[in-house]
Amino acid sequence: MPTHALAHRLFPSAEAASEALAAEIADLIRSRAAENRSAVFGLATGSTPLRLYAELIHLHRAQGLSFTNVVTYNLDEYLGLPRGHPESYWQFMHFNLFDHIDMRPENIHLPDGSTAEEDLASYCEAYEQSIREAGGIDLQILGIGHNGHIGFNEPGSQSDLRTHVAELSEMTIRNAAQSFGGAEHVPGRALTMGVRTILDARRIVLLAFGESKAEIVRRALTEEISPDLPATYVGAHPDASFYLDQAAAP
Ligand code: F6R
Repeated sequence: MPTHALAHRLFPSAEAASEALAAEIADLIRSRAAENRSAVFGLATGSTPLRLYAELIHLHRAQGLSFTNVVTYNLDEYLGLPRGHPESYWQFMHFNLFDHIDMRPENIHLPDGSTAEEDLASYCEAYEQSIREAGGIDLQILGIGHNGHIGFNEPGSQSDLRTHVAELSEMTIRNAAQSFGGAEHVPGRALTMGVRTILDARRIVLLAFGESKAEIVRRALTEEISPDLPATYVGAHPDASFYLDQAAAP
């Protein structure tokens, strides 16, 4: 496996990193709007992008940044959760971003966790097809799991997968247990964009904040590209960067 030289940008705080990324997103939205074109973003859930989403809402309210030309594709969703479930990523995204901006509902895409078992393969293909028809993802935002996962591409995930059904690792289930009221209530599987889907984005920014991420960030930035640590795959992308706060910096 090749080694890589992943770029990273160090910010004084998570707020500063989130503001910088929000400004970059706003620039792309405005320049595309001026050309009557859409801007396509790949989005993540979890605690890390919350400040980014808050900043985007702020730009909408304070500067009138419009999201009417924005198309979004979320990375993942728990399998077996209907969209109305309080822990669904659908709810998370609406609560933390979409309900507060002027996105067109038809431009919002998240994998549907209530897809029937027999339809999963065609559903995953349709999600990929939809991304292609939108013109591909301009900017993919990622977080990083403590085990190095990106989306729900857990350690062991191969680099050639597109949107697929993934098994959650024990660590991921343990981390989600509290919000689900016990590990036994956490779905064991998820729909997730694959590494190939992620690497097809024209630009990738992986956000990592806080001391608890420092060790996995250090490994992702220094170790060879390997399925053992899926975040290393980001190093194979020509325009990818880690945005870190001081605490997460290696
Ligand atoms: C969420 C996702 C996950 C998270 C990762 C970090 O859509 O794809 O890979 O980005 O688990 O989660 P937080 O930000 O909560 O530490």
